[in-house]
Amino acid sequence: MKILNLYFSSTGNTEKVALKIDETVTNWGTPWIQSRSVQRSSPWTFLTTISFLWDPEYTVNCRAKSSWIFTRALLQRYVKAGEIKPASPRRPSSHVVVYCTYGGVHTGINEAIPAVKYMGQLFDYLGFTILAEWYVVGEYMTKKLKSHSVGGRLGDIRGRPNRADLEEVAEKVKGVL
Ligand SMILES: Cc1cc2nc3c(=O)[nH]c(=O)nc-3n(C[C@H](O)[C@H](O)[C@H](O)COP(=O)(O)O)c2cc1C
Repeated sequence: MKILNLYFSSTGNTEKVALKIDETVTNWGTPWIQSRSVQRSSPWTFLTTISFLWDPEYTVNCRAKSSWIFTRALLQRYVKAGEIKPASPRRPSSHVVVYCTYGGVHTGINEAIPAVKYMGQLFDYLGFTILAEWYVVGEYMTKKLKSHSVGGRLGDIRGRPNRADLEEVAEKVKGVL
């Protein structure tokens, strides 16, 4: 089994989740995992290293703008390559888990759902089976938005993702494996 663990993290929360995924997969004894941060400036550089001819499971984060750009660029690339087919036939053994971290100060998880659905569509178009969608709470880290970490729809989210959140991620990773 090959696993590509893609993520973007601007303030470090998603990176914590991605590293927990990496650690859990590695401890599980899976022989092949690559974890890569999707770079803000150069999605295309990254794209050239991807092959969908593998049988991987993909773990992808999509919250920040660069992840949206990344997804759109990837879709265009596969449209050009003729990989997007009517009825999106399944690719056996190709699976994806899509997740994001989010703060949800205004409307809670509803702020995060569109991001995960958008990202998941790319892989569904390509014929991947979406195994799971994960939503992990992440505190607002910037000085300007720090106050959003208290008093929003999700209450006090300071310090999240915390140890319990990351343990939950680890358990879900084992479930997927
Ligand atoms: C500039 C900025 C804008 C954000 N906007 C939203 C938002 O619209 N909805 C939401 O649920 N969370 C929002 N968040 C919270 C982040 O999604 C959350 O902190 C996430 O865990 C950040 O992940 P990262 O540290 O991996 O970048 C925002 C955070 C920042 C810093």
